[in-house]
Amino acid sequence: MLEVRDLGIRFGGHTAVDAVSCQFAAGSLTAIVGPNGAGKTTFFNLISGQLKASTGSVWLNGQDLSGLGVSARTHAGLGRAFQLTNLFPNLTVLENVRLAVQATQDGAHRRGLNLWSIWSDHHALSDSAHALLHEVSLQDKADQPVSSLPHGDQRKLEVALLMALQPQVYMFDEPTAGMSADEAPVILELIRRLKADKSKIILLVEHKMNVVRELADRIIVLHNGQLVADGEPTEVMASPIVQEAYLGRSQPSQVAA
Ligand SMILES: Nc1ncnc2c1ncn2[C@@H]1O[C@H](COP(=O)(O)OP(=O)(O)OP(=O)(O)O)[C@@H](O)[C@H]1O
Ligand SMILES: [Mg+2]
Repeated sequence: MLEVRDLGIRFGGHTAVDAVSCQFAAGSLTAIVGPNGAGKTTFFNLISGQLKASTGSVWLNGQDLSGLGVSARTHAGLGRAFQLTNLFPNLTVLENVRLAVQATQDGAHRRGLNLWSIWSDHHALSDSAHALLHEVSLQDKADQPVSSLPHGDQRKLEVALLMALQPQVYMFDEPTAGMSADEAPVILELIRRLKADKSKIILLVEHKMNVVRELADRIIVLHNGQLVADGEPTEVMASPIVQEAYLGRSQPSQVAA
C-alpha cells in the first residue's frame, strides 16, 4: 500500500500540490488526470523524492519515506521513469539497460575476482537486458548509442529502464506522449501486462481518455494542485470537473464528491 498524507509543495507563492491525501492499493491502476499545470507531474516528483515536499508525508507498506532521497525511495520500491538526462548517451541502448539491471542486483560483484562468476554475471545481465528490450520492441536498436534514438524510442527505453528496476510502484507520466500511433500500443500492452501482476501499484498520468477508460480501476483528478475527485472511472468521468476539463463543456466548476 502506498499512501500520501497532506502532500504538498509551494513554489514561491504558488501552491502546485495542495495537501493531497490518498492511498493506492496493490493490484490497482490509478489514472491521475487534470488540466495542464494541475500539478500531476509535481505530484509524482513529490512521491519519488525528486522534489522535497513543503508539507506531508509519503508511506510505502507502513514505512515513512519522507526523509529519503530519490535513490533510497527507488530502493524501497518506488519506480519513476528515468529521465534520459540520467543515462549515458554515448553508451548503447543495451549497455544502459544492462546498467539498470545491474543496479538492482545487490552484491553481484562482491564475490571477488572469480572469473567464472564475473563471466556468468555478465551473461545473465545481458540476457535480462535483451529480454527487456524485446518487451518494448527495441531489440533492433540494442547496439545504437542512446543519443541517436528518435523520441519515441527514447520513451520506450525509459519504460524498459523502469521495468529493469522491478519496483513495486510504477509511475508513468504520459508514457506515450510523442509516440506515433503504431508505437503507443507497445507501451500500453506492457502496462496492461504489469497490471495483471496483483502485487504492483500503478500510477498513470494520462491525457488520452480512451487509454484511461481502458486501463484505470480508479481515477483521481487534480485541479490547481488539489485532489478534486477520486473514484470509480465511470463516475469520475461523468463528474462536472472532468466534463469541463476534457470535453470542453463549460459548466460551473463544481467539485465532484
Ligand atoms: N520547479 C518548479 N518551479 C516553479 N514552478 C513549478 C515547478 N514545477 C512545476 N511548477 C508549476 O507547478 C504547476 C504544476 O505543474 P505540473 O508540471 O506538475 O503540471 P502537470 O499537471 O504535470 O501539467 P501537464 O499536464 O502540462 O504536464 C504549474 O503551475 C507549474 O508551472
Ligand atoms: Mg506533467
